[in-house]
Amino acid sequence: MTGLSVLVLGSGGREHALALALARDPAVAAVHVAPGNPGTWAMTPDRGLTARLAGLDPCNGPAVTALARELGADLTVVGPEAPLVAGVADQLRAGGLACFGPSAAAARLEGSKSFAKQVMAAAGVPTADFRRCDTLDEVAAALDQFGPPHVVKQDGLAAGKGVAVTSDRDEALAHARDRLPVVVEEYLDGPEVSLFAITDGATAVPLPPAQDFKRARDGDQGPNTGGLGAYCPLPWAPAGLVSQTMERVVAPTLAEMARRGTPFAGLLYVGLALTARGLRVVEFNARFGDPETAAILPLLDTGLGTVLLAAATGRLDRLGPLSWKPGFCVTVVVADRGYPDRPLIGGPIREQTPVGLIFHPGDQVHVVHAGTALDAQGGLTAAGGRVLGVVGRGPDLAQARQRAYAAADRIDFPGGRCRRDIAQRAAEGLIPPVERL
Ligand SMILES: Nc1ncnc2c1ncn2[C@@H]1O[C@H](COP(=O)(O)OP(=O)(O)OP(=O)(O)O)[C@@H](O)[C@H]1O
Ligand SMILES: [Mg+2]
Repeated sequence: MTGLSVLVLGSGGREHALALALARDPAVAAVHVAPGNPGTWAMTPDRGLTARLAGLDPCNGPAVTALARELGADLTVVGPEAPLVAGVADQLRAGGLACFGPSAAAARLEGSKSFAKQVMAAAGVPTADFRRCDTLDEVAAALDQFGPPHVVKQDGLAAGKGVAVTSDRDEALAHARDRLPVVVEEYLDGPEVSLFAITDGATAVPLPPAQDFKRARDGDQGPNTGGLGAYCPLPWAPAGLVSQTMERVVAPTLAEMARRGTPFAGLLYVGLALTARGLRVVEFNARFGDPETAAILPLLDTGLGTVLLAAATGRLDRLGPLSWKPGFCVTVVVADRGYPDRPLIGGPIREQTPVGLIFHPGDQVHVVHAGTALDAQGGLTAAGGRVLGVVGRGPDLAQARQRAYAAADRIDFPGGRCRRDIAQRAAEGLIPPVERL
């Protein structure tokens, strides 16, 4: 075998992070990202090839299948949720191609909040109590039953804008009004954890837990965003967090999905709240999380292409445990100043940084592109939203943070801003101990 050729679908920071990790796998000979972004285009030596991939719509199953064939891809990794929910993984597999990513039927674990709740109930997985509501009267009754703070979630995919957490009953009702049907649920208190498991539907291997920062402002204030930073691993994680989550959440969920005839193969993202009453699932996603992926994968020592191919072909049981590098990673997202309420488009990003590296990955610090574009002169500009992810690595969280922020501050991007407190409380040892799992 001459080495794997891998196609990654998507164009964000997650896909750039996946591509960087795949490129480090000695078993991988070629990584293609479609449509990709200026960061991934710069990774690939053949500019002509990447320009052609730039036009691809990841939700267009026939176009994706044709591209995977044309590239001779041994594996296609579907990055975002929309193509998974649209059945692109099914179409690739129907064409005889290996794909890392669940079927449309299994991706409903992310695509429908009420479906995920039904599966958790059937599997005995601990999660917030909930009501699915089709009318505003049902919403009002559910809000009063659970009491404040209120949690209202759009049932279907909402690109990070479907959830309201508020103590204002009118605001909760207003959020529900345009989004019916919704799920109203009990409020969960306590630190949140993102735990990813790679699975072929039967065997599952965990990645180290990470934490992301969803709110727009320092101190977890402001509206929810797609995530403005992350760190991995969690120095404060209680012993048994990973094994308990695998036993009480991942294994029963996979068993229930298999029992229904729709096994889940791909990445199961478990969003957890560690409450005073024990761990509870906040949500499932059906793909790698963004921005956690950029903080997790630089620590992976096992070749990522080898792992994802084993999962895609049902051979994860033969792989053995993953190996990890020591140390910590912190990702600081640089977003445009208006994000998330009024995203601004454009604004130059100059590459004058001593980090040397808007494009080039380094060992202690590197940058992933999340929302960048090239202007007519080939200069780097912001395309709005989350623009860059600056990843620092170090022997402890404090040094990883310091490296990430020092690099972020050297990027000349007047239209950008970042939260200043990513991983701060954890680095300072201020997260209270978790009493029980
Ligand atoms: N029951 C709950 N109690 C308290 N907070 C909650 C609850 N459910 C959700 N949240 C908060 O809202 C955030 C978003 O909720 P959820 O993860 O279900 O939505 P999502 O839009 O699918 O998110 P993502 O973009 O991560 O997929 C959570 O990360 C959590 O901070
Ligand atoms: Mg989600």
